Amino acid sequence: MAVLVTGGTGFIGSHTCIELLNAGEEIVVADNFSNSKPEVLNRLKKITGKDIPFKKVDLCDEAETEKLFKEYKIDEVIHFAGYKAVGESVAEPLMYYENNLGSTFNIIKMMKKYGCKRIVFSSSATVYGIPETVPIKEDFPISAINPYGRTKLFIEEILRDLCVSDADFSVVLLRYFNPIGAHESGLIGEDPKGIPNNLMPYICKVAAGKLPILSVYGNDYPTRDGSGVRDYIHVVDLAKGHVCALDYMRKNKGAKAINLGTGNGYSVFELVRAYEKASGITVPFKVTERRPGDAAECYADPSLAKELLGWSAEYGVDRMCEDVARWQKMNPDGYGD
Ligand code: UFG
Repeated sequence: MAVLVTGGTGFIGSHTCIELLNAGEEIVVADNFSNSKPEVLNRLKKITGKDIPFKKVDLCDEAETEKLFKEYKIDEVIHFAGYKAVGESVAEPLMYYENNLGSTFNIIKMMKKYGCKRIVFSSSATVYGIPETVPIKEDFPISAINPYGRTKLFIEEILRDLCVSDADFSVVLLRYFNPIGAHESGLIGEDPKGIPNNLMPYICKVAAGKLPILSVYGNDYPTRDGSGVRDYIHVVDLAKGHVCALDYMRKNKGAKAINLGTGNGYSVFELVRAYEKASGITVPFKVTERRPGDAAECYADPSLAKELLGWSAEYGVDRMCEDVARWQKMNPDGYGD
């Protein structure tokens, strides 16, 4: 009886492992370390005091995936594994479709073969494309504007089809807004490879003196200070949402898409100031052109998560930045080599 956590050594996956163990769940972690480090497992042990069953698995390999289901009695899957860089997906679309869809097909095949009928999927607010209004509700039209977003959209549809074909399936599609933050221990956090694409890790690298200056992509949006507004959510809040989703799936069948956000929007300048306050470090920035494909404002209506999962975010942006600053200070080179 175990929950399979794919991509369990990644940023959101690792924080979710802790919350699952705190809730008394038994877990098995599968990852191929394509964007994470084995050191995460040591850190998880330090935090939880538990040895986490782990398998290094390429989920695009059907036989390897089957071994997991043979070895463990898997009752539920939380499927984080996947490539996630928007720009890279535009340059290498086939790699994204092959990896994100291929791994999901193998997982679903094995779920069907081994009688496992519950899956939580890491979807994204990216499926709303450029929203016409905010806050965003789950019944807003969905569309994607890059291959990464399309993999999320396609997998949502595939999982919905699965529920139509078999009334015993339960699927929760969690649409994450902008996860930042780190565990309060400072032992785990976000450690992106190379130059970060996302705002928070970029701010960190500039604050640490590893990159010279932050580019603020546009200050002429119709927002309160002209910069883009997003719904930043603490990764620990997000992780707890997955524990609630498991509970929900055990009581409800069919597919549900649910936003995980705070419902509050913060601008680029506001996030920079919050990080400066938390870290005591000034972050130099310059305003540049808008980044193609960026929405002016994107934040959730999180009321469905409250209604169905009994979940809402606890932490505000100051706490998110304090936890990131601690992680950054304790691990200036992330998890290292
Ligand atoms: N931004 C900058 N400078 C940077 C990076 C970002 O000004 O160096 C701005 C962006 O223009 C945007 C905001 O900071 O206004 C947030 O940008 P991120 O790249 O951090 O996040 P996005 O909202 O663009 O995208 C994120 C994830 C996607 C996910 C999407 C869902 O990266 O995977 O949220 O809305 F799909």
